[in-house]
Amino acid sequence: MQSSHPIGIFDSGFGGLTVFKAIKERLPQYDYLYLGDNARAPYGDRSLDIVYEYTLQAVEWMFKKGCPLIILACNTASAEALRKIQMNDLPRMGAEKRVLGVIRPTAEIIGQYTKNKAVGVLGTHGTIESYVYPVEISEFYPDVQVYQHACPMWVPMIENNEHHSAAAAHFVKQDLDKLLQQSEQIDTILLGCTHYPLLLDTIKANLPAGVQVITQGEIVADSLADYLQRHTEIEEQLSRGKTVSFYTTDSTVQFDKHGTAFFGEEVHAQHIRL
Ligand code: DGL
Repeated sequence: MQSSHPIGIFDSGFGGLTVFKAIKERLPQYDYLYLGDNARAPYGDRSLDIVYEYTLQAVEWMFKKGCPLIILACNTASAEALRKIQMNDLPRMGAEKRVLGVIRPTAEIIGQYTKNKAVGVLGTHGTIESYVYPVEISEFYPDVQVYQHACPMWVPMIENNEHHSAAAAHFVKQDLDKLLQQSEQIDTILLGCTHYPLLLDTIKANLPAGVQVITQGEIVADSLADYLQRHTEIEEQLSRGKTVSFYTTDSTVQFDKHGTAFFGEEVHAQHIRL
C-alpha cells in the first residue's frame, strides 16, 4: 500500500506549473505530484484521439503512484479528454478516484469580470476548436458573448524558453490584435491555456487601456479548496506531508532549469516513460 496519496497535477509540459503554484499556495498542507509530458508537448495541435490517449496514460500512471485526485492543469486535455476519461475510464480505474479539469471552474466565474458582457478567450487550437468555453460560459452567463482566437505559436515558444524573445512579442501582439478585432466590446481576456501566464508581461504590455487579462491559477485553486470542503470522502484520502515531487517524460536537466524559473522554487524532476 502506498504511504503517500498526493494530489496529482498534470500538464503537457511546463504550463501546469502556473496552476500548481497557486494550488500549493492555497492548500500547502497536502502532498503533491506534478507530471509534465514535455517529450510530447505541445498537445494543442494534436488530434482529439491522441490527446485523449496521452492524457489517459498520464492519469493511469498517476493513479498507480497513489494519487486519489488528479487535476488536469491543461485546457487542451480538459477540453478533449476529461469528459471521456470521467465517463469511460474512471469507473474501471476506481470509483473512489477523481479527475478534475480547469475549464469548468473558469467558466463558472469568468462572467463576473466583464462589464460589457464580452469575453475574449485565447487558447490552443484544440481548446478553441472544441468550443468548450463558449458552450460552458453560456451555461452560467447566457448574456455574455464569447470571442475566441487560437495562438499556436505561444506554447512552443514557452516550452523552448523563447518567451522573452522579440519573436514572442511579435506573435503576442499579432494574436491579441486578431482577438480584439472581433469586437470593440471585449473588456476581459481569458488566458485559456495554462502556459500563457508565462507571457503575461508581454501580453499586458500589448493590451489597450480598459482591457483586463485573467489567468486561471487562483480560480482553479479556489475551486479546488471549495471542492475538497464539499467532498470529504476525497479529502480524507489525501496525505498531508507537504512533499512535492516532479516527473517529466523529457530531459530532467531542462525541466529542472526551466521548471525552477517558472515555478519560482527549486524543482528536481525524475524521468519517466508513459
Ligand atoms: N497548457 C496546456 C493548455 O492549457 C497545453 C498546451 C499544449 O500542450 O499545447 O492548453
